[in-house]
Amino acid sequence: MRKKLIVGNWKMNGRRAMANELCSTIMHEMQNFKNIDVTLCPPFILLDEVRKMTADSECMLGAQDLDMHNDGAYTGQVSAGMLKDAGCEWVIIGHSERRTLFGETNLTVGKKAKQALDHGLKPIVCVGETEGERKAGQETSIVQGQLQSVIDEIGIDSCKDMTIAYEPVWAIGTGLTATPEEAQTMHAFIREQLDLQHDETAKACRILYGGSMKQDNAGSLLGCPDIDGGLIGGASLNAGEFLGICRSA
Ligand code: PGA
Repeated sequence: MRKKLIVGNWKMNGRRAMANELCSTIMHEMQNFKNIDVTLCPPFILLDEVRKMTADSECMLGAQDLDMHNDGAYTGQVSAGMLKDAGCEWVIIGHSERRTLFGETNLTVGKKAKQALDHGLKPIVCVGETEGERKAGQETSIVQGQLQSVIDEIGIDSCKDMTIAYEPVWAIGTGLTATPEEAQTMHAFIREQLDLQHDETAKACRILYGGSMKQDNAGSLLGCPDIDGGLIGGASLNAGEFLGICRSA
């Protein structure tokens, strides 16, 4: 039985005061969520603030990206070792905003996933098709390509330590959500791809859904057999919404 995982991706939002307020409201209810895993991924600069606020709870800390290199002359970048030192257990890799706005390719996403695993961080690797790709009937081939390039880089045996987030690009921040049927179909496809290469990994690997998940639609999505949690953007900035999703899980 895979434990559900709810991840809050704050993106480039927040200040210290907001982080304090949001975390303290969430922490009030954390003891009710013993049967699920909860992780918060604030911007780098708020990691320490959130670490302090969540220190006495089961809530885990994650970052939104890392650099694929070890420490060195990479101005402005943050390394896996630094994230580990800052108390992170998780890191989001290859979010569609990184791919489209910052030119990340399947190859760099694979290298970042490897870098995370090499430093004991658990990668949450994002995959998903654009609206145009879905309209052209290419959604499975796109997702398969994104997934396979990560598997090629880290090796199928390491995939048990990775979490996958299926985030259809057309559903991110748009208010449009994949229907539970659409999401379940893609999640089952992803699991089948893993199963073709290693059945134990396919059973163990958690596959999250992301894209306008809210407390209203969380129950029906999280009720699908292959949906093991959510990667929550906008709704993770609202304590009531985020807690509502955690309760649904
Ligand atoms: P959203 O973002 O929940 O605001 O759609 C999800 C994500 O980008 O991870």
